[in-house]
Amino acid sequence: MFGSQGFLVLTLLAGAVAGQDAITATGTNFTLSADGMSYLFHVDTSSGDLLSDHFGGPATEFTPPATILPYGWHETQGNLRREFPDIGHYDSRLPAIHIEHADGDTVSALRYQSHDIVQGKPSLPGLPATYGGAGNVTTLIVQLYDNVSDVSAALSYSIFPKYNAVARSFSITNNGSNDIRIERAASFSTDFPNVDLEMIEPHGDWSHEFNTVRRKVDYGETTFRSTEGYASHVHNPFFALVSPTTTESTGEAWGFNLVWTGSFQATAERFSNGYVRVLLGLNSLHTSIKVQPGKSFQSPEAVAVYSSKGIGGVSRSFHDLYRNHLSRSKFTHETRPILLNSWEGLGFNINQTSLVKLAGEAEELAIELFVNDDGWFGVEYPRNNDSLGLGDWTPNPAKFPDGLRPYVDQVNNFSVLNSSTSLQFGIWVEPEMVNPNSTLYREHPDWVLHAGKHQRTLTRNQLVLNVGLPEVQDFIISTVSRVLDSANIQYVKWDNNRGMHELSRPSDDYTYILGLYRVIDNLTTRYPNVLWEGCASGGGRFDAGLLYYWPQHWTSDNTDAANRLTIQMGTSFVYPPSAMGCHISAIPNGLTKRNISIEYRGHVAMMCGSFGLELNPEELKPEEASAVPAIIAEAHRVNPIVISGDFYRLAHPDSSNWPGVQFVSEDGSQSVVFAFQQMYVVKPAPPPLRLQGLDAKARYSNNLDNATYSGATYMNGGLNIAWPRADYQSKLIWLQKQ
Ligand SMILES: *[C@@H]1O[C@H](CO)[C@@H](O)[C@H](O)[C@H]1NC(C)=O
Ligand SMILES: *[C@@H]1O[C@H](CO)[C@@H](O)[C@H](O)[C@H]1NC(C)=O
Ligand SMILES: *[C@@H]1O[C@H](CO)[C@@H](O)[C@H](O)[C@H]1NC(C)=O
Ligand SMILES: *[C@@H]1O[C@H](CO)[C@@H](O)[C@H](O)[C@H]1NC(C)=O
Ligand SMILES: *[C@@H]1O[C@H](CO)[C@@H](O)[C@H](O)[C@H]1NC(C)=O
Ligand SMILES: *[C@@H]1O[C@H](CO)[C@@H](O)[C@H](O)[C@H]1NC(C)=O
Ligand SMILES: *[C@@H]1O[C@H](CO)[C@@H](O)[C@H](O)[C@H]1NC(C)=O
Ligand SMILES: *[C@@H]1O[C@H](CO)[C@@H](O)[C@H](O)[C@H]1NC(C)=O
Ligand SMILES: *[C@@H]1O[C@H](CO)[C@@H](O)[C@H](O)[C@H]1NC(C)=O
Ligand SMILES: *[C@@H]1O[C@H](CO)[C@@H](O)[C@H](O)[C@H]1NC(C)=O
Ligand SMILES: *[C@@H]1O[C@H](CO)[C@@H](O)[C@H](O)[C@H]1NC(C)=O
Ligand SMILES: *[C@@H]1O[C@H](CO)[C@@H](O)[C@H](O)[C@H]1NC(C)=O
Repeated sequence: MFGSQGFLVLTLLAGAVAGQDAITATGTNFTLSADGMSYLFHVDTSSGDLLSDHFGGPATEFTPPATILPYGWHETQGNLRREFPDIGHYDSRLPAIHIEHADGDTVSALRYQSHDIVQGKPSLPGLPATYGGAGNVTTLIVQLYDNVSDVSAALSYSIFPKYNAVARSFSITNNGSNDIRIERAASFSTDFPNVDLEMIEPHGDWSHEFNTVRRKVDYGETTFRSTEGYASHVHNPFFALVSPTTTESTGEAWGFNLVWTGSFQATAERFSNGYVRVLLGLNSLHTSIKVQPGKSFQSPEAVAVYSSKGIGGVSRSFHDLYRNHLSRSKFTHETRPILLNSWEGLGFNINQTSLVKLAGEAEELAIELFVNDDGWFGVEYPRNNDSLGLGDWTPNPAKFPDGLRPYVDQVNNFSVLNSSTSLQFGIWVEPEMVNPNSTLYREHPDWVLHAGKHQRTLTRNQLVLNVGLPEVQDFIISTVSRVLDSANIQYVKWDNNRGMHELSRPSDDYTYILGLYRVIDNLTTRYPNVLWEGCASGGGRFDAGLLYYWPQHWTSDNTDAANRLTIQMGTSFVYPPSAMGCHISAIPNGLTKRNISIEYRGHVAMMCGSFGLELNPEELKPEEASAVPAIIAEAHRVNPIVISGDFYRLAHPDSSNWPGVQFVSEDGSQSVVFAFQQMYVVKPAPPPLRLQGLDAKARYSNNLDNATYSGATYMNGGLNIAWPRADYQSKLIWLQKQ
């Protein structure tokens, strides 16, 4: 439990860490201080190696490390807590950095040379990363050098005091005269002392994203990775370490997230001495990156967050950090238009007439953004199904005889119900992919990822363009620009529907992702007024790298509202609900065949920043159609608090039949609670829904029993909801501070 003493310490320290004091160096002992977190490490003056001292709650001094009998096979380094472990001297744990040097030798000894403390945070060339000016963040850069191999490293730590967060990355420079290869690169590395920890990690698959598992960090490696070329549905480059007693709202928790879209690897290795080495970075199967003489390798950035207030505290730190210091889109802090996507309603069976008709139906539902999904392109290979046309981003003349502009003008000609603004238009693209049945592939068969004469394996009838090639990057930039210049397009859904298979070199994934960042950086810079949404067969690339460029991501292709609760709550462990795209779809659900009321589906979708409908309005049942206006009005009311409020998971669907979440507005004046009953059960009784994040002494009215209670009552006593005798019930409850 979180004692009152701990609270006092936190309050006293809050705000005390001004920019100037966030990083101090006493000799070569480094103290990084946040409002409720300290990160300490120092240079071992006898070896020049960096040693970890502390990462956790506030600690102000360096204390002598644990003593271990210096016998056995792991003298010195092997029993030290190391901050940036290389390989080859005593230490047989996994390294953060593994280099094959010019002569084939793989031993390294990177030793301290100098350091520098700067206010603010230098950007990482070509890579997405957290940003912030003086007063928001302070950066320590430690220079290391291996004088045997003639390789140097610059290790960077940026501390964001307000969020108890430290962002880490490093670069390796080849100072020699022959090529070297980076075989392994963990952007974050530290050694925890001998403490019992558990790992909470996401796992899943397509339409099953972000389930979470909690397991003991035992001797050996507790590890997971993606080898799909992207973050993937199967895992996500995020995990939390927690004490065995940590809960959602109490206890110590550390969160780690890689700001990267490609393959990755996450590991906690517990060694014989009980120390736990934490590594998060590139997947070594997809590394082996060549660095030429005089050139540097820049690692992606990893962000680590500490909270003494449980897993929820870690999540809220990530949400705020990412909204304020990662996602650079101007839409990040704006409410999002309510959209209708054509896919569920029309599929590939589209043309200008049928789409304009659908847009007209959208108008009557007070929709603000009409999205034209797949199927609009392809001339020689018309995209009438998923076996052809991908790569040929020219409107299909049979469907759009005069191109996109007159069609989009017709859509824009509708005005949003009860408003003078016009209906916006958005479009779907999947520019990193190609069907073999396409003009593009016929002309450029070498542009796809392939390995010599090996079979080019298809997924969904498509191949992956090698976005590492500059000509492919330029092609995507110019074709997407041409589409965007051809009509008044205000939103783009950028899809990506398969993983990478044939990589002819392990480093192809790294090169691809850098190329992708170049493309997206170019397009988002050029079209800052377009609302970009990422998608990858659902949440296959819901990652911090893309969140830097794009403010939102489609959360899952699974729109079954009951399944979605688990998926959205899991995603919220690290990514803000404001960045999630969530829609109401038709019932019976296409995937699960489940029937869930439109209110419940609406409530689940409203918990996300981007709310919409993905159905054919004509097929709504009368009782659904009549409920839609109230749902849309409620979504408008909820959206600002989802975009900028604090998010609390009250009860998780994995462990409760009565899951619930809560948002508290930035100014604390309002709170909205979403509560659910999955199954109706005779026994046991529903537990009280205990709220969080309120001011204990303030009084709040609620629209459940129309009473006014203190914050303490809501948080400690909780709300008892009279659930009807039915499955899949939901409530939306507003609290108003008096
Ligand atoms: C630096 O840290 C080491 C290791 O904890 C400690 O032994 C030493 O006294 C510290 N030096 C200073 C100046 O704080
Ligand atoms: C960043 O620092 C500036 C200057 O102190 C401050 O005005 C601004 O609010 C900070 N931004 C955030 C997001 O905290
Ligand atoms: C590298 O530096 C260490 C420590 O300064 C020194 O003892 C050693 O001789 C140097 N080795 C080479 C190859 O320069
Ligand atoms: C290695 O090369 C970089 C880039 O040229 C340079 O800044 C650095 O000083 C060099 N380091 C050493 C130890 O020579
Ligand atoms: C457009 O699609 C609708 C529905 O499939 C069809 O009835 C109509 O004939 C099509 N119009 C044109 C011009 O192709
Ligand atoms: C896909 O569309 C093409 C072109 O309209 C057509 O020839 C083909 O039969 C369709 N394939 C399938 C599987 O429907
Ligand atoms: C190419 O398109 C044709 C017609 O739709 C289809 O039968 C064939 O399977 C497609 N080939 C591939 C490789 O998708
Ligand atoms: C827009 O609507 C007006 C009024 O209904 C109509 O006169 C005009 O032709 C429409 N323009 C387009 C591009 O559809
Ligand atoms: C985008 O790329 C094009 C060509 O590929 C280039 O001309 C243009 O300057 C780039 N724009 C930005 C904003 O990077
Ligand atoms: C869902 O409702 C449809 C009627 O709209 C019904 O045919 C179907 O059996 C229901 N499915 C389930 C799983 O209850
Ligand atoms: C639009 O305005 C009409 C008339 O004032 C009102 O009845 C209706 O509820 C409004 N609809 C929405 C979605 O605001
Ligand atoms: C609370 O007030 C609303 C609006 O006045 C009313 O519809 C609802 O029935 C009331 N609920 C209770 C439990 O009194």
